[in-house]
Amino acid sequence: MRQAMAEAEVGDDVMGEDPTVNELQRISADMFGMEAALFVPTGTMSNLIAVMVHCRERDDEMIVGDVSHIHIYEQGGSAQLAGVHANTGGRVLPLTFLQEVRALADRYGLSVHMDGARVMNAAVAQGVHPQTILQHTHTVSVCLSKGLGAPVGTMLAGPKDFIARALRCRKALGGGMRQAGVLAAAGKVSLLDMVGRLEEDHRNARTFAQALLDFDPLFAVDMATVETNILRFYLKEPGLSPAEFCARMVQVGEGEEVALGQGVQVLILRDRVRRNMSAVQLLRVLVHVRISAAAEDFLLQVEKGGGKAQVPVMSPPGRAR
Ligand SMILES: Cc1ncc(COP(=O)(O)O)c(C=O)c1O
Repeated sequence: MRQAMAEAEVGDDVMGEDPTVNELQRISADMFGMEAALFVPTGTMSNLIAVMVHCRERDDEMIVGDVSHIHIYEQGGSAQLAGVHANTGGRVLPLTFLQEVRALADRYGLSVHMDGARVMNAAVAQGVHPQTILQHTHTVSVCLSKGLGAPVGTMLAGPKDFIARALRCRKALGGGMRQAGVLAAAGKVSLLDMVGRLEEDHRNARTFAQALLDFDPLFAVDMATVETNILRFYLKEPGLSPAEFCARMVQVGEGEEVALGQGVQVLILRDRVRRNMSAVQLLRVLVHVRISAAAEDFLLQVEKGGGKAQVPVMSPPGRAR
Protein backbone atom coordinates (compact mmCIF):
# COMPACT_ATOMS: atom_id res chain seq x y z
CA MET A 1 0.00 0.00 0.00
CA ARG A 2 2.82 2.41 0.91
CA GLN A 3 4.52 1.55 -2.38
CA ALA A 4 1.33 2.26 -4.34
CA MET A 5 1.01 5.61 -2.56
CA ALA A 6 4.59 6.55 -3.36
CA GLU A 7 4.11 5.74 -7.03
CA ALA A 8 0.65 7.31 -7.45
CA GLU A 9 -0.01 9.59 -10.38
CA VAL A 10 -1.65 12.77 -9.08
CA GLY A 11 -3.47 15.87 -10.29
CA ASP A 12 -5.83 18.47 -8.77
CA ASP A 13 -8.85 16.54 -7.60
CA VAL A 14 -10.84 19.68 -6.80
CA MET A 15 -10.72 20.25 -10.55
CA GLY A 16 -11.54 16.57 -11.17
CA GLU A 17 -8.06 16.09 -12.60
CA ASP A 18 -6.48 13.50 -10.35
CA PRO A 19 -6.29 10.29 -12.42
CA THR A 20 -5.85 8.01 -9.41
CA VAL A 21 -8.85 9.47 -7.58
CA ASN A 22 -10.90 9.20 -10.77
CA GLU A 23 -9.89 5.57 -11.17
CA LEU A 24 -10.75 4.77 -7.54
CA GLN A 25 -14.17 6.39 -8.03
CA ARG A 26 -14.77 4.30 -11.16
CA ILE A 27 -13.68 1.08 -9.43
CA SER A 28 -15.94 1.82 -6.46
CA ALA A 29 -19.01 2.63 -8.54
CA ASP A 30 -18.56 -0.62 -10.52
CA MET A 31 -17.97 -2.70 -7.41
CA PHE A 32 -20.98 -1.28 -5.56
CA GLY A 33 -23.28 -1.36 -8.60
CA MET A 34 -23.85 2.42 -8.43
CA GLU A 35 -23.71 5.02 -11.23
CA ALA A 36 -20.99 7.12 -9.62
CA ALA A 37 -18.82 7.48 -6.53
CA LEU A 38 -16.97 10.24 -4.70
CA PHE A 39 -13.80 10.00 -2.60
CA VAL A 40 -14.23 11.81 0.73
CA PRO A 41 -11.88 12.04 3.71
CA THR A 42 -13.98 10.27 6.38
CA GLY A 43 -17.06 8.18 7.03
CA THR A 44 -18.51 10.96 9.15
CA MET A 45 -18.24 13.48 6.33
CA SER A 46 -19.60 10.95 3.86
CA ASN A 47 -22.72 10.33 5.95
CA LEU A 48 -23.18 14.05 6.52
CA ILE A 49 -22.95 14.76 2.79
CA ALA A 50 -25.50 11.99 2.13
CA VAL A 51 -27.89 13.60 4.62
CA MET A 52 -27.33 17.03 3.07
CA VAL A 53 -28.09 15.75 -0.43
CA HIS A 54 -31.02 13.51 0.48
CA CYS A 55 -32.62 16.07 2.79
CA ARG A 56 -32.31 19.41 1.05
CA GLU A 57 -34.59 21.49 3.25
CA ARG A 58 -33.53 22.56 6.73
CA ASP A 59 -35.86 20.75 9.21
CA ASP A 60 -36.27 17.75 6.88
CA GLU A 61 -36.41 14.46 8.79
CA MET A 62 -34.57 11.16 8.49
CA ILE A 63 -35.10 7.79 10.13
CA VAL A 64 -32.00 6.17 11.64
CA GLY A 65 -31.21 3.24 13.94
CA ASP A 66 -31.21 4.18 17.63
CA VAL A 67 -27.71 2.73 18.06
CA SER A 68 -26.45 3.81 14.64
CA HIS A 69 -23.10 5.58 14.29
CA ILE A 70 -24.68 8.62 12.72
CA HIS A 71 -27.06 8.98 15.67
CA ILE A 72 -24.55 8.42 18.48
CA TYR A 73 -20.99 9.09 17.33
CA GLU A 74 -21.05 11.83 14.69
CA GLN A 75 -21.48 14.88 16.92
CA GLY A 76 -25.05 15.44 15.77
CA GLY A 77 -23.61 16.89 12.56
CA SER A 78 -26.76 16.22 10.59
CA ALA A 79 -28.70 18.43 13.01
CA GLN A 80 -25.90 20.94 13.68
CA LEU A 81 -24.77 21.44 10.11
CA ALA A 82 -27.50 20.11 7.84
CA GLY A 83 -30.50 21.13 9.96
CA VAL A 84 -31.93 17.62 9.65
CA HIS A 85 -33.82 16.03 12.48
CA ALA A 86 -33.48 12.29 13.28
CA ASN A 87 -36.30 9.91 14.26
CA THR A 88 -34.84 6.76 15.60
CA GLY A 89 -35.68 3.14 14.80
CA GLY A 90 -33.99 -0.31 15.07
CA ARG A 91 -31.11 -2.30 13.61
CA VAL A 92 -30.81 -3.11 9.92
CA LEU A 93 -28.79 -6.21 9.11
CA PRO A 94 -30.24 -9.24 7.28
CA LEU A 95 -30.75 -9.09 3.51
CA THR A 96 -34.47 -9.78 3.88
CA PHE A 97 -34.74 -6.86 6.27
CA LEU A 98 -32.98 -4.57 3.81
CA GLN A 99 -35.38 -5.76 1.14
CA GLU A 100 -38.35 -4.88 3.36
CA VAL A 101 -36.89 -1.48 4.25
CA ARG A 102 -36.43 -0.69 0.58
CA ALA A 103 -39.96 -1.79 -0.30
CA LEU A 104 -41.32 0.40 2.50
CA ALA A 105 -39.17 3.35 1.42
CA ASP A 106 -40.32 2.93 -2.19
CA ARG A 107 -43.93 2.89 -1.07
CA TYR A 108 -43.49 6.25 0.67
CA GLY A 109 -41.10 7.79 -1.86
CA LEU A 110 -38.15 7.85 0.56
CA SER A 111 -34.44 7.35 -0.18
CA VAL A 112 -32.37 4.71 1.59
CA HIS A 113 -28.79 5.61 2.49
CA MET A 114 -26.63 2.87 3.99
CA ASP A 115 -23.80 3.71 6.35
CA GLY A 116 -21.86 0.77 4.96
CA ALA A 117 -18.63 1.64 6.75
CA ARG A 118 -17.91 -2.09 6.98
CA VAL A 119 -20.17 -3.39 4.23
CA MET A 120 -17.27 -5.36 2.73
CA ASN A 121 -16.97 -7.32 5.99
CA ALA A 122 -20.70 -7.97 5.83
CA ALA A 123 -20.46 -9.18 2.23
CA VAL A 124 -17.54 -11.50 3.05
CA ALA A 125 -19.32 -12.83 6.16
CA GLN A 126 -22.46 -13.56 4.16
CA GLY A 127 -20.51 -14.92 1.19
CA VAL A 128 -22.22 -12.52 -1.23
CA HIS A 129 -21.09 -9.83 -3.68
CA PRO A 130 -21.44 -6.32 -2.17
CA GLN A 131 -24.04 -5.55 -4.85
CA THR A 132 -26.33 -8.20 -3.36
CA ILE A 133 -26.51 -6.01 -0.26
CA LEU A 134 -26.35 -2.63 -1.95
CA GLN A 135 -29.10 -3.31 -4.49
CA HIS A 136 -31.50 -2.42 -1.67
CA THR A 137 -30.05 1.04 -1.06
CA HIS A 138 -30.06 4.22 -3.13
CA THR A 139 -26.73 5.45 -1.78
CA VAL A 140 -23.93 4.05 0.34
CA SER A 141 -20.90 5.16 2.29
CA VAL A 142 -18.04 2.61 2.42
CA CYS A 143 -14.99 3.24 4.60
CA LEU A 144 -11.56 2.36 3.23
CA SER A 145 -9.82 3.17 6.51
CA LYS A 146 -11.39 0.55 8.79
CA GLY A 147 -10.93 -3.16 8.06
CA LEU A 148 -9.65 -2.35 4.57
CA GLY A 149 -6.55 -0.71 6.03
CA ALA A 150 -6.20 2.58 4.09
CA PRO A 151 -4.83 5.55 6.05
CA VAL A 152 -7.90 7.69 5.25
CA GLY A 153 -10.86 7.74 2.92
CA THR A 154 -14.45 6.77 2.39
CA MET A 155 -16.33 6.19 -0.84
CA LEU A 156 -19.77 7.75 -1.16
CA ALA A 157 -21.67 6.17 -4.04
CA GLY A 158 -25.07 6.58 -5.66
CA PRO A 159 -26.84 7.97 -8.74
CA LYS A 160 -24.96 10.50 -10.91
CA ASP A 161 -27.11 13.48 -9.90
CA PHE A 162 -26.66 12.59 -6.21
CA ILE A 163 -22.87 12.47 -6.60
CA ALA A 164 -22.86 15.76 -8.54
CA ARG A 165 -24.55 17.45 -5.58
CA ALA A 166 -22.37 15.55 -3.11
CA LEU A 167 -19.31 17.06 -4.81
CA ARG A 168 -20.59 20.58 -4.03
CA CYS A 169 -21.33 19.61 -0.42
CA ARG A 170 -17.89 18.05 -0.01
CA LYS A 171 -16.33 21.35 -1.07
CA ALA A 172 -18.59 23.33 1.26
CA LEU A 173 -17.50 21.15 4.18
CA GLY A 174 -13.83 21.65 3.37
CA GLY A 175 -13.40 18.11 2.10
CA GLY A 176 -12.10 18.98 -1.38
CA MET A 177 -8.51 17.71 -1.48
CA ARG A 178 -5.96 18.60 -4.13
CA GLN A 179 -3.27 16.00 -4.94
CA ALA A 180 -5.33 13.27 -3.30
CA GLY A 181 -4.04 10.55 -5.62
CA VAL A 182 -1.56 9.37 -2.98
CA LEU A 183 -4.54 8.61 -0.74
CA ALA A 184 -6.67 7.18 -3.51
CA ALA A 185 -3.82 4.82 -4.43
CA ALA A 186 -4.12 3.34 -0.94
CA GLY A 187 -7.90 3.13 -1.43
CA LYS A 188 -7.41 1.16 -4.64
CA VAL A 189 -5.28 -1.37 -2.78
CA SER A 190 -8.03 -1.55 -0.13
CA LEU A 191 -10.74 -2.41 -2.63
CA LEU A 192 -8.71 -4.56 -4.99
CA ASP A 193 -6.47 -6.47 -2.55
CA MET A 194 -7.56 -6.05 1.05
CA VAL A 195 -11.11 -7.33 0.69
CA GLY A 196 -9.59 -10.72 -0.09
CA ARG A 197 -8.01 -10.96 3.36
CA LEU A 198 -11.00 -9.88 5.48
CA GLU A 199 -11.88 -13.51 6.14
CA GLU A 200 -8.57 -13.73 8.03
CA ASP A 201 -9.76 -11.01 10.44
CA HIS A 202 -13.08 -12.80 10.86
CA ARG A 203 -11.22 -16.02 11.67
CA ASN A 204 -9.00 -14.20 14.21
CA ALA A 205 -12.09 -12.70 15.85
CA ARG A 206 -13.60 -16.18 16.23
CA THR A 207 -10.30 -17.45 17.68
CA PHE A 208 -10.29 -14.56 20.13
CA ALA A 209 -13.91 -15.30 21.08
CA GLN A 210 -13.14 -18.97 21.58
CA ALA A 211 -10.15 -18.11 23.79
CA LEU A 212 -12.40 -15.92 25.92
CA LEU A 213 -14.95 -18.70 26.19
CA ASP A 214 -12.26 -21.13 27.23
CA PHE A 215 -11.41 -18.67 29.97
CA ASP A 216 -14.87 -19.07 31.44
CA PRO A 217 -16.28 -18.10 33.95
CA LEU A 218 -15.02 -14.53 33.52
CA PHE A 219 -16.46 -13.87 30.06
CA ALA A 220 -19.75 -14.43 28.27
CA VAL A 221 -19.55 -14.59 24.49
CA ASP A 222 -22.31 -15.59 22.10
CA MET A 223 -20.32 -17.25 19.31
CA ALA A 224 -23.29 -16.95 16.94
CA THR A 225 -22.83 -13.16 17.00
CA VAL A 226 -19.16 -13.31 16.00
CA GLU A 227 -19.71 -13.10 12.25
CA THR A 228 -17.14 -10.52 11.21
CA ASN A 229 -14.08 -8.82 12.70
CA ILE A 230 -16.15 -7.38 15.54
CA LEU A 231 -16.45 -9.32 18.73
CA ARG A 232 -18.72 -8.33 21.60
CA PHE A 233 -18.66 -9.92 25.02
CA TYR A 234 -19.63 -9.37 28.63
CA LEU A 235 -17.72 -9.57 31.88
CA LYS A 236 -19.55 -11.87 34.23
CA GLU A 237 -17.41 -11.08 37.26
CA PRO A 238 -19.16 -8.40 39.36
CA GLY A 239 -15.94 -7.64 41.26
CA LEU A 240 -14.23 -6.34 38.13
CA SER A 241 -15.67 -3.26 36.47
CA PRO A 242 -15.51 -3.04 32.65
CA ALA A 243 -13.49 0.18 32.98
CA GLU A 244 -10.94 -1.50 35.23
CA PHE A 245 -10.78 -4.54 32.97
CA CYS A 246 -10.14 -2.36 29.89
CA ALA A 247 -7.47 -0.39 31.76
CA ARG A 248 -5.70 -3.59 32.76
CA MET A 249 -5.79 -4.98 29.26
CA VAL A 250 -3.74 -2.10 27.86
CA GLN A 251 -1.08 -2.56 30.52
CA VAL A 252 1.87 -4.75 29.80
CA GLY A 253 1.95 -7.03 32.81
CA GLU A 254 4.93 -7.99 34.88
CA GLY A 255 6.66 -11.02 33.40
CA GLU A 256 4.67 -10.78 30.18
CA GLU A 257 7.59 -9.64 28.05
CA VAL A 258 9.65 -12.55 29.34
CA ALA A 259 6.82 -15.03 28.66
CA LEU A 260 5.91 -13.71 25.21
CA GLY A 261 9.12 -12.11 24.04
CA GLN A 262 7.14 -8.88 23.72
CA GLY A 263 4.57 -6.78 25.52
CA VAL A 264 1.04 -6.97 24.13
CA GLN A 265 -1.45 -4.19 24.73
CA VAL A 266 -5.07 -5.13 24.07
CA LEU A 267 -7.31 -2.12 23.48
CA ILE A 268 -10.90 -3.00 24.35
CA LEU A 269 -13.76 -0.57 23.87
CA ARG A 270 -16.82 -0.22 26.04
CA ASP A 271 -20.06 -0.03 24.13
CA ARG A 272 -22.91 2.10 25.31
CA VAL A 273 -25.29 0.22 27.55
CA ARG A 274 -28.23 -0.88 25.45
CA ARG A 275 -31.85 -1.16 26.45
CA ASN A 276 -32.52 -4.09 28.79
CA MET A 277 -28.81 -4.58 29.37
CA SER A 278 -28.20 -2.25 32.27
CA ALA A 279 -26.79 -5.01 34.53
CA VAL A 280 -23.87 -5.89 32.27
CA GLN A 281 -21.77 -3.77 30.00
CA LEU A 282 -20.88 -4.82 26.51
CA LEU A 283 -17.20 -4.84 25.58
CA ARG A 284 -16.02 -4.65 21.99
CA VAL A 285 -12.90 -5.85 20.20
CA LEU A 286 -12.18 -5.12 16.55
CA VAL A 287 -9.64 -7.29 14.76
CA HIS A 288 -7.90 -5.77 11.76
CA VAL A 289 -4.95 -6.15 9.46
CA ARG A 290 -2.45 -4.69 11.92
CA ILE A 291 -3.51 -7.11 14.66
CA SER A 292 -2.26 -10.52 13.72
CA ALA A 293 0.86 -12.09 15.12
CA ALA A 294 0.80 -10.19 18.41
CA ALA A 295 -2.83 -11.09 19.02
CA GLU A 296 -2.16 -14.70 18.18
CA ASP A 297 0.67 -14.76 20.72
CA PHE A 298 -1.63 -13.24 23.26
CA LEU A 299 -4.41 -15.72 22.51
CA LEU A 300 -2.05 -18.62 22.70
CA GLN A 301 -1.03 -17.51 26.14
CA VAL A 302 -4.65 -17.09 27.23
CA GLU A 303 -5.49 -20.54 25.91
CA LYS A 304 -2.53 -22.09 27.66
CA GLY A 305 -3.48 -20.29 30.86
CA GLY A 306 -0.03 -18.70 30.90
CA GLY A 307 1.50 -15.32 30.07
CA LYS A 308 -1.00 -12.51 30.25
CA ALA A 309 -3.62 -14.79 31.76
CA GLN A 310 -1.47 -15.13 34.85
CA VAL A 311 -0.73 -11.49 35.30
CA PRO A 312 -3.31 -9.29 37.05
CA VAL A 313 -4.99 -8.53 33.73
CA MET A 314 -7.42 -11.43 33.84
CA SER A 315 -7.70 -11.81 37.58
CA PRO A 316 -10.55 -10.06 39.37
CA PRO A 317 -9.50 -8.31 42.58
CA GLY A 318 -9.46 -10.57 45.61
CA ARG A 319 -8.92 -13.74 43.62
CA ALA A 320 -5.90 -15.96 43.80
CA ARG A 321 -3.69 -15.45 40.75
C1 LIG B 1 -20.49 2.43 11.21
C2 LIG B 1 -19.59 3.63 11.12
N1 LIG B 1 -19.96 4.67 10.38
C3 LIG B 1 -19.19 5.76 10.27
C4 LIG B 1 -17.98 5.85 10.92
C5 LIG B 1 -17.19 7.12 10.83
O1 LIG B 1 -16.02 6.98 10.12
P1 LIG B 1 -14.81 8.04 10.30
O2 LIG B 1 -14.13 7.68 11.58
O3 LIG B 1 -13.96 7.80 9.09
O4 LIG B 1 -15.41 9.39 10.34
C6 LIG B 1 -17.55 4.78 11.71
C7 LIG B 1 -16.28 4.87 12.43
O5 LIG B 1 -15.86 3.98 13.14
C8 LIG B 1 -18.37 3.63 11.81
O6 LIG B 1 -18.02 2.59 12.56
